Amino acid sequence: MRKKVTVVGAGNVGANCALRLAGKELADVVLVDVVEGVPQGKGLDILESGPVEGYDVSITGSNNYEPTANSDVVIMTAGFPRKPGMSRDDLLLANYEIVKSATEQVAKYSPNAILILVTNPLDAMCWVAYQVSKFARNRVIGMAGVLDTARYRTFLAAELGVSVENISALVLGGHGDTMVPLPRLTTVGGIPLTELLTQERIDAIVQRTRDGGAEIVKYLKTGSAYYAPSASAVEMAESILKDKKKVLPCAAYLEGEYGHTGIFAGVPVKLGSDGIEKIYELALTDAEKAALDRSAAGVQELIDVLKQKAGI
Ligand code: LAC
Repeated sequence: MRKKVTVVGAGNVGANCALRLAGKELADVVLVDVVEGVPQGKGLDILESGPVEGYDVSITGSNNYEPTANSDVVIMTAGFPRKPGMSRDDLLLANYEIVKSATEQVAKYSPNAILILVTNPLDAMCWVAYQVSKFARNRVIGMAGVLDTARYRTFLAAELGVSVENISALVLGGHGDTMVPLPRLTTVGGIPLTELLTQERIDAIVQRTRDGGAEIVKYLKTGSAYYAPSASAVEMAESILKDKKKVLPCAAYLEGEYGHTGIFAGVPVKLGSDGIEKIYELALTDAEKAALDRSAAGVQELIDVLKQKAGI
């Protein structure tokens, strides 16, 4: 039977997720948005690319969730993007309302789906979806580590003049300014990065990675990145839909892992048909652990605001 993926939000991230899912023939796609005509129009436009691109999936658009029933995977992109000068955290309360009501609908129509969150502030929105859906923790996953790692790999490959495919790396922590790239565990065709670059150059690339989202926002002025975010979300969806069991850094609900409980943070996980099938707990150095703790504290602050203001 064909797989079915719902993409909530037909903005730039959502539409590009739909396009990439179709291009890889991963599933039939339902694009949902509150704006009348936009999911229908973009869905039809993507469908009409099929004869040229050679893909054979159904892509439909809708303003309600009935057509999304029994989706295998739901990618949640709905929400406001940031504008220059804003942090992801500035979107907290506005996007909380959007993610909450969308998740209610998703849980009603697709009670067995695996949810991939993309909306910012990412880790807090994962927590909202987890609370509202009441799904088991293996079925609520945040896209951020794949994107942050992709940016880090891009910058390293450019610096070293090597293929991006040779850079193996992971970025942990929340999807924000305190994310935690791990140079100690980064390799270039099997060679430790620390043997190839000075600490000064590594530090500069780590900082550019942390600012990677803001760098794009500054260029675009009216919104945030969407090509690399959609590519990242679809890599996660593909690993789930094909049960590939890729090990990827994703936001997961922690129940004691890395010393944290009750929050989402980016950690290495195995993604298969059951969603998060394993969380890998790495032995971190004291400095890495301290950086992860700082990042987790930032996520906890946002969750505390939601608990107080939104009462969940
Ligand atoms: C970024 C946004 C999507 O990092 O969070 O580009």
